[in-house]
Amino acid sequence: MTRPAPAPPHRPLRAGIVGAGSISRAHAEGYRASGADLVAIADPDPGAGARRAAAYAIPDVYDDAAAMFAAADLDVVSIATPVSTHHDLVLAAAEAGLHVLCEKPIALDLAQADAMIRACDAAGVTLQIGHQMRSDAAIARAHERIAAGEIGDVAFVRLRQAHDWGGAAEVRPSFQTRASGGGGTLLDNGVHLMDLARHLAGDVEEVYARVATRRWPVELEDTAHVSLRFASGALGSVETSWSATGWEEGFWVYGSAGALEWTNRHTDPVLVHASRASGGGDWSTTDVARETFAAPKSHTAQVAAFLAAVRGEGAVPATGTDGREAVRLVLAAYDSAGRGLPVTVGEEASDLQAAMAEVDPG
Ligand SMILES: NC(=O)c1ccc[n+]([C@@H]2O[C@H](COP(=O)([O-])OP(=O)(O)OC[C@H]3O[C@@H](n4cnc5c(N)ncnc54)[C@H](O)[C@@H]3O)[C@@H](O)[C@H]2O)c1
Repeated sequence: MTRPAPAPPHRPLRAGIVGAGSISRAHAEGYRASGADLVAIADPDPGAGARRAAAYAIPDVYDDAAAMFAAADLDVVSIATPVSTHHDLVLAAAEAGLHVLCEKPIALDLAQADAMIRACDAAGVTLQIGHQMRSDAAIARAHERIAAGEIGDVAFVRLRQAHDWGGAAEVRPSFQTRASGGGGTLLDNGVHLMDLARHLAGDVEEVYARVATRRWPVELEDTAHVSLRFASGALGSVETSWSATGWEEGFWVYGSAGALEWTNRHTDPVLVHASRASGGGDWSTTDVARETFAAPKSHTAQVAAFLAAVRGEGAVPATGTDGREAVRLVLAAYDSAGRGLPVTVGEEASDLQAAMAEVDPG
């Protein structure tokens, strides 16, 4: 594998963003907070590009990514477009010699993900996938505590991400159809949680999933539940939905020596560590340590980590392979939902269309 060449440390990196939709705001804020020069944005929708450029004082707006890659003299680029476009845009960015932060899901099939990873390796550029939850301070701390053995052997991991499109009257249009969004909440939110499952508890060996469409008039599922079996023998549960009220995400990890709990529904981001370290307690009383976090938002932190990796100052939080493996678990889950059976990871359909062929969300 070719190692990405570190960018010169003596000047701010020149950044561009492809796609001026909702998530581009988080990338723009991340570049601004990290001291990069955000010099260009590209979107075929001129209104979207102009609005984002005005909000973040981005000097150049393009209606085409290729034109931006050719003219803007960029070092790094965020790909913040619908998943169906990620493969082609990442290949074009790598060919232009740009380090890439590509939004999740990396792609809709494993062959495309592999091609994206290969292209970035061959071009010697960094590829990071936008699994920003890894850069969340509470999640990073939970990862450290688990890796240090502080909760013992992990027995169970429950992961949840659910929302209602911010109270909007409809699902965001680019997420409504198979053609653009690929999958529903199992792909959109589930890919984050599958990545987190691997990050916190290691390889997943088997998935067993159910999906349903209960709330929105869309052709994709808005509700999903996946049961996981990890290689370690631990079990897990991934719960995703577009039928919650507001935004809810959280995780609960049970180990032989304690438990970790985090949810955004607490007033402050707080990681709760329960244990019986003092040897006492009863059903309702345990030793409890609470850690609060004043760190920057996870999206901002992941952009900072990306720029540091480009400068040769650390590893990316989520590699192309991490992105691929998260998609693989989602494919296995769709496959399982379609077949009504558990699916062994590695025996799943390799692209989303095949994985979803039998899925009937009802
Ligand atoms: N990490 C997260 O938490 C998170 C949150 C939201 C969205 N996302 C991901 O970000 C991506 C974009 O989602 P969004 O919510 O911003 O969607 P969106 O529909 O709000 O915006 C997408 C934008 O991309 C533009 N676009 C489409 N094709 C393009 C192309 N070839 N070149 C340039 N621009 C193009 C569209 O015109 C639109 O303005 C998706 O992959 C989504 O899953 C990630």
